[in-house]
Amino acid sequence: MGKRAHHCEDELGVRVPALPLETERLILRPFTESDVDEAYRLVYADSDVREAWSGYSAALAEFRERFATDPVWHAEGGFGFLAAVLKEGDQLLGLMGLQKYEPGEDTSFMLPEDPADAVGADPDATEVELTYALGREHWGHGYATEAGRALIAYGFQELGVQRIVNAVIVHERHRSLDLMRRLGFRIVKNLNPEYLTAGPFKGSPGAIGILAKRPP
Ligand SMILES: CC(C)(COP(=O)(O)OP(=O)(O)OC[C@H]1O[C@@H](n2cnc3c(N)ncnc32)[C@H](O)[C@@H]1OP(=O)(O)O)[C@@H](O)C(=O)NCCC(=O)NCCS
Repeated sequence: MGKRAHHCEDELGVRVPALPLETERLILRPFTESDVDEAYRLVYADSDVREAWSGYSAALAEFRERFATDPVWHAEGGFGFLAAVLKEGDQLLGLMGLQKYEPGEDTSFMLPEDPADAVGADPDATEVELTYALGREHWGHGYATEAGRALIAYGFQELGVQRIVNAVIVHERHRSLDLMRRLGFRIVKNLNPEYLTAGPFKGSPGAIGILAKRPP
């Protein structure tokens, strides 16, 4: 794994998250206004990426509005989407981020066999989804693996995350499932029979990826 940004301390000596993160080839940093059009092109304008990731299909003008108002695009406090940028040439590749599951959030679409695996099983634990989407032309270079390793370490070591829980579709050659395996997630079945009710993977069985912080 590449280098990570150093943490820093505020004037009260409280550890605060330090961004950007740096890996061998990448920078992970908050998005800025100037990323908006390229981010849209990479993750929403391409149906391969959009349908696998979010299904959000609004026009660019609407996305601009969403970008301005939706906190998930601004990673305040370290949680939310970060821009994955190639150091060489400053090229935006896509996004990756840690999205917190909020108390009371409906996560019934993920139904693991063991109730202890469910989000919220420990109400005191900080649990997140590791979310990611790279532009199609940036697949196959190991960028998501490299970014994922840095973000997982950042979440566990700097943000107090205890578990990362991802829903994923089981599909032949599904890149997201492969990525989770490379990142060390334990994969369990999603017993919810209606995991996906729309989109190109409609009716596909679901799986759940779980990565827990190891005790020190
Ligand atoms: C999920 C996603 C980010 C994975 O991208 P990816 O390119 O498959 O994953 P990586 O960036 O880790 O690259 C791994 C591939 O690069 C290859 N690679 C090349 N150079 C490499 C290097 N230096 N280091 C590691 N891997 C390298 C690996 O062999 C692997 O190839 P393979 O897929 O042929 O086995 C991408 O497919 C995507 O954005 N999908 C759409 C969005 C989505 O599905 N989101 C998740 C919804 S659950």
